[in-house]
Amino acid sequence: MSEILIRGGRVIDPFSSSSFSADLLIREGRIVSISRGIARNGFKVWEADGKYIFPGFLDLHAHLREPGGEEAEDLESGLMAAVRGGYTAVCCMPNTEPPLDHPELVDALYLKARSMGMADLFPVGCITRGRKGRELADMGLLNSSLARVRAFSDDGDCVMDSGLMRRALRYSRALGTVIISHPEDSALSSNGQVNEGKVSYRLGLRGIPSLAEEVMVARDILLAEETGARLHLAHVSTARSVRLIREAKERGVPVTAEATPHHLILTEEDIPGYDANFKVKPPLRTKEDVEALREALADGTIDAVATDHAPHTLQSKEQEFDYAPFGISGLETSFSLLYTELVLKGELSLEELVGLFTSGPARVLDLSPPLYGGEFVEGRVADLVIFDPQASWTIDPSRFASKGKNTPFAGKEVKGKVVGVLKGGRIVYEDEALCE
Ligand code: DOR
Repeated sequence: MSEILIRGGRVIDPFSSSSFSADLLIREGRIVSISRGIARNGFKVWEADGKYIFPGFLDLHAHLREPGGEEAEDLESGLMAAVRGGYTAVCCMPNTEPPLDHPELVDALYLKARSMGMADLFPVGCITRGRKGRELADMGLLNSSLARVRAFSDDGDCVMDSGLMRRALRYSRALGTVIISHPEDSALSSNGQVNEGKVSYRLGLRGIPSLAEEVMVARDILLAEETGARLHLAHVSTARSVRLIREAKERGVPVTAEATPHHLILTEEDIPGYDANFKVKPPLRTKEDVEALREALADGTIDAVATDHAPHTLQSKEQEFDYAPFGISGLETSFSLLYTELVLKGELSLEELVGLFTSGPARVLDLSPPLYGGEFVEGRVADLVIFDPQASWTIDPSRFASKGKNTPFAGKEVKGKVVGVLKGGRIVYEDEALCE
């Protein structure tokens, strides 16, 4: 394997809460030297003057659609999209066909991803068999599989049976794993299409009340409190959810939470009409909700940014709003969007944002080296991102590696771009800007 010298970049390391300027020499998959003025010596050189170096990102929440939904995404296109977004590790959700409720299914994906070598895959297993919400999946078997499932979710659907959810949490606690809740009371959201309120009335679409989320956030917090099991709340979208989580954390409940870039940037008012690229679950909410989510990022109530990358075919998204599926393709735009909207507008520091993409999600899943992350010291596995803060670009879904072109951000100008990604010391993404 060749040696790579990354010269002149500024390392932002949330794992040691430090940042420093240095050259990095990468050999045989690891950072072997961190110092200033390393001689070029015939190495391949990435000139990183004026650029940042981050740990590879970890996405807690991506739908890669394999098996069964390959027309919308497959492992290869999904992981290619991931690395272009700066991710070197991805948790894939189990709402596939068949659902990921069996060790053979998670192991097949895990091994396939490993052979591709682009990003590490952490498959999330189903909580319930077939995601049907009736009986628990074989969580123990999934956890002892090759893929070592560390988190369980019926994401896309909520486990409505509270008794079953309680048992899942108890079982998960015994396994030392995490339950990822998709907090949505389906009786309250029923056939809703967008947030219940002004915009649903104006468009004549059925609304999904905030309460549909908050009832389940509250329930799951109570269940986590009672069972002592680790609970992670997916795609939190409302001010009251944030309040419930903040209070639970203050009481010492083992709860963590994520928010998505789209819920942190867009409101229901941004929905331009019947454009299904804005149709997502949970729905885009109000300005007050977005403000509460941003505060929760800054004060640590929300632990991680997750994409909820939900690719869909063009054809399915072009149906009438009511019939189009929910979801936004997010892996390739997440960091630049939040860098532009939060860091450049002074709401978060760059260090905080990088933490929400790296050390934050690592804590949620309790991952540490060699599985993921670790401080920038000599000997560290070279999973890293080069980010050019000066680059400006326009989001153009036709250029996505993802098959899912469904984004509400098409045409948006953003600042800052992932220009290089190393996975295990191997170049898995390289923008022309870095080529020598
Ligand atoms: O918008 C969404 N799409 N929300 C979910 O929870 C599931 C996802 C999907 O799988 O398409």
